[in-house]
Amino acid sequence: MEPLPNIQEIITKAKQQARRETDSEPEPSLTGEFEWPAPCEVKPGLDGAIACTTKIGYVNGSKGWLIYCGIDIFDLCENSSFEETAYLLLFGNLPTRSEFDAFESKLRTYRSVPSEIIDQIKNLRSYQPHPMASLQTAVSMLGDMDPTADDPSVEAETEVAIKLTAQMTTLVGAIARIRAGAEPLAPDPDLPLGADLVRMMTGKTPSPEDARVMDIALILHADHGMNASTFTTMVINSSLSDMYSSVAGGIGSLKGPLHGGANEAVLEDLREIGAPDKVDEWYEEARKTKRKVMGFGHRVYKAYDPRARILEPMADLLSNRSPENRQLYETAVVLEKKVVEELGATKSIFPNVDFYSGIVYDAMGIESAMFTPIFAASRIAGWTARTLEYLKDNRIFRPRAIYVGPLHVDHEPIEERG
Ligand code: CMC
Repeated sequence: MEPLPNIQEIITKAKQQARRETDSEPEPSLTGEFEWPAPCEVKPGLDGAIACTTKIGYVNGSKGWLIYCGIDIFDLCENSSFEETAYLLLFGNLPTRSEFDAFESKLRTYRSVPSEIIDQIKNLRSYQPHPMASLQTAVSMLGDMDPTADDPSVEAETEVAIKLTAQMTTLVGAIARIRAGAEPLAPDPDLPLGADLVRMMTGKTPSPEDARVMDIALILHADHGMNASTFTTMVINSSLSDMYSSVAGGIGSLKGPLHGGANEAVLEDLREIGAPDKVDEWYEEARKTKRKVMGFGHRVYKAYDPRARILEPMADLLSNRSPENRQLYETAVVLEKKVVEELGATKSIFPNVDFYSGIVYDAMGIESAMFTPIFAASRIAGWTARTLEYLKDNRIFRPRAIYVGPLHVDHEPIEERG
């Protein structure tokens, strides 16, 4: 992948700014030696609960750090590709040249998807399913068609993880084309996954700039702690179900607007606002009706999300392509200022990864319903890596609930109830 100077400059600047702003914040927590049982205070939404230990990724909410296997996300964006990042997450270290060649060669071989799946996506098109629902169906079908799917060994599931990492981009590309009434394109194994994703969605080979920006977006979305979809994937796999079912579950979880679906919802909000000078009025109404502003807030980050630090200047750069893109970007900047002024200091609410990503994809000519599937094509790396890590020392997830209902209710015959 070409290290384009203007894109490198954006990442370097974002990294320096992040370090300057959060140097004085407290040192990291939730790292280091650990023994069960874990002392923790659990709140609704499992807030504060500790589910496992991991070497895969670390989010430091107060410093705004995101680290994959010890490597800072900014360094990965500067120096790696999505493929290399996927290898890192899956195997715990950056690959040597020969390890990387072997991994890439596998990814290339696995990129096609069976024609029955493409036909099924086409068959269901008239029901206008959300592309995330199509993606979920397609992943389940991949499982139906893979004779190794029910082998719960780490070796077999690792191979499925690599297959899915390769096939997700092909599926997302096909879904986008079918939605647009066009014939899906076969994957081009000579292109990196990110560039091919853009090509298969838009029908055009992306410029080096778009290819690099998509690659960075995929790196940024690849893993993020025990988020809802990763946890879902791990919970499903912990019953020794299978990787396809687990990933299908993860896709279902990611779809919601409180999680990955927020990127699509942000564009809807920005379009509803219409222009920078309409932000105040829209925002006052949102506050009155207690409507959440999509693309803001996070369970873990109480500082600026490092992913948004990179995506914001990318959105700035790409939005110069048309007056409509620019209007969206400028509206977003005013909205960010407004929300952070009001909720930054009091509730630690800042833009998250989903706030600027949609503006970037929109400028590449990708429709907003496809934003969350792009997220899934990247998060497949984190889902499978964490699921496999947990599988190595598996214990079925089985938390409990506190029963707050009555204990002794007389069983009345149906005629006497009323
Ligand atoms: N707009 C306005 N107020 C907010 C927002 C927001 N986006 N997010 C949180 N708050 C307020 C919330 O009203 C609450 O206020 P109060 O204490 O007065 O009741 C307080 O902040 C805590 O919010 P919460 O909903 O209890 O926080 P949570 O940790 O349960 O939820 C969240 C985290 C990300 C679901 C939430 O911030 C949210 O709904 N954000 C909008 C949706 C969004 O952008 N999701 C993407 C998340 S990041 C990427 C990903 O996972 O896909």
